Amino acid sequence: MAEETPDLRGFPKADAYAALAERVDLVLEGTRDEIAAMATIATLVHHGFGHLWTGFYRVVDSGRQLRIGPYQGALGCLEIAVGRGVCGTAAAECRTVIVPDVAAFPGHITCDARARSEIVVPVFDAAGTLRAVFDVDSELVDAFDEDDRRGLERVLTWFARTGDAQ
Ligand code: SME
Repeated sequence: MAEETPDLRGFPKADAYAALAERVDLVLEGTRDEIAAMATIATLVHHGFGHLWTGFYRVVDSGRQLRIGPYQGALGCLEIAVGRGVCGTAAAECRTVIVPDVAAFPGHITCDARARSEIVVPVFDAAGTLRAVFDVDSELVDAFDEDDRRGLERVLTWFARTGDAQ
């Protein structure tokens, strides 16, 4: 199967995310594997929107630590403690965190110095357990808003609907 990676730039965000959700379900049809889903979603979001860094941090070590998962972009930090940085804050509080200006977020962890704004969305399985966070970085200040939160949270429901939590 060779599905295309559509360019979602230039569409209203709501339309872009609707197309993304459709494409994710299409590409992942027939699999319940979480890592396959993470790789697919990171690729479609990253190239679809032209972000700086896009990827997953998986919850490990009995919920104390985040460890890098599938991603697109420059090398990411391998481990982040839950509670630290934007990713660790989203994980600790189990909520989406939007940071319009990373310079103004105390404790922001810099992996790529070009990052200016960031959104981190929690990923839950069918039991409601936090499995990972999905982190997207932009070179633009204030790149993410409520449309991004809604759109990404919707796409990430794949893990609760279909994912095969081990
Ligand atoms: N900025 C994140 C760290 C991960 S990198 O951006 C890929 C944070 O503060 O948690």
